[in-house]
Amino acid sequence: MNIGIDKIGFAAPSYVLDLADLALARQIDPNKFKVGLLQSEMAVAPITQDIVTLGAQAAAAILTDEDKAAIDMVIVGTESSIDQSKAAAVFLHQLLDIQPFARSIEIKEACYGATAGLSLAKSHIAQFPHSKVLIIASDIAKYGIASGGEPTQGAGAVAMLVTADPSIMILNNDNVCQTRDIMDFWRPNYDKYPRVDGKFSTEQYTDCLTTTFDYYVEKTGKSLADFAAMCLHIPFSKQGLKGLQAICHQDEETLNRLTERFHEAIVYNKVVGNIYTGSIFLSLLSLLENSQSLKTGDAILFYSYGSGAVCEIFSGTLVEGYRNQLLTDRLDQLNARKRLDVTEYEAIFFEEIKLDEAGNAIDLPLDDTPFALQNIEQHKRIYRKN
Ligand code: HMG
Repeated sequence: MNIGIDKIGFAAPSYVLDLADLALARQIDPNKFKVGLLQSEMAVAPITQDIVTLGAQAAAAILTDEDKAAIDMVIVGTESSIDQSKAAAVFLHQLLDIQPFARSIEIKEACYGATAGLSLAKSHIAQFPHSKVLIIASDIAKYGIASGGEPTQGAGAVAMLVTADPSIMILNNDNVCQTRDIMDFWRPNYDKYPRVDGKFSTEQYTDCLTTTFDYYVEKTGKSLADFAAMCLHIPFSKQGLKGLQAICHQDEETLNRLTERFHEAIVYNKVVGNIYTGSIFLSLLSLLENSQSLKTGDAILFYSYGSGAVCEIFSGTLVEGYRNQLLTDRLDQLNARKRLDVTEYEAIFFEEIKLDEAGNAIDLPLDDTPFALQNIEQHKRIYRKN
């Protein structure tokens, strides 16, 4: 049985910051971000948008009533949880009107969580072929004002429907993982923002890729010649490009071919920033919606990396008619976001919810986007569908 991605949707908050403006405000050469990191803009979320509202928007864009009646598992991959106990998937299950007899869970392992969700979904569909599984990768990446990671922030969610006989991409059974206990990026429970050993994290990203890829080649007998494109985890676009260069180092022709596809695969990431668990799938969406040269039957190689670290290399094959599931105006939608200046960005992205003694939100602004945090009453988050 073929199992894979049947639909894919994306949502970003409606605010954006130009990294050239950020560079000027921080007295940095704008080319460091534009050329050095290969990033041009980043998405900025207000306090009324969180992993639940962004995830709901991404999923609502792709789900039909028929899907909602067939979904019996909702998986959220995130490292920006809104609660230490209750899964964001439970809020999402309700907001999206999914039939009640479903399992709803949250998976955490830095940027890798949603990839683990994909494997879990595949196993579930193999057991129950008529089921559908909704995976939502939703995160808000914040490193703090004037921090080293500031230009690599972002916010957004990708939703994927996993089914038998999928309409976009079959997931092949060639997954290879690696776990490596390192402290490259982590966030203790008492910290608002992650701690990061930036340079070490970039080295580990690449070393995990090259060593896992060697094992992948050994185990599967496949090589880069088998793939039309590669999608990598994109903390910032230059990191992905360096990863690609690291595994193609002895083969210039393959590197040139895959680099052309790579640039199509970062069109959205460059203007959204790091969305942690969703970054690799945003890159897939970018590739599918911006590449004219991909075709049915083409295989795509994936490298998912979550700090800490767990990584996975796997592949998928495009199916007939996959283009019918995609949008042609997504970049126009992203270009229509409200542009913030640096003062507005600092105020909006780093605003914190104020609670009174009873745990009720004070002065939470009204947000008319399709899903929004409406209130907090006695420490309970209340969401609104507009
Ligand atoms: P930095 O120290 O500010 O930057 O931090 P840099 O000095 O390394 O410069 C960056 C690049 O810009 C360099 O290019 C410079 O040469 C270039 P490279 O040599 O590496 O090719 N540059 C310029 N280029 C053109 N014109 C100029 C100019 N100046 C410099 N004028 C760092 C960069 C990424 C470390 C920082 O932003 C950071 O800490 N980010 C967060 C950590 C991160 O994203 N790590 C990536 C790997 S780990 C990962 O992917 C997991 C993650 O997503 C989390 C998770 O799993 O949950 C982060």
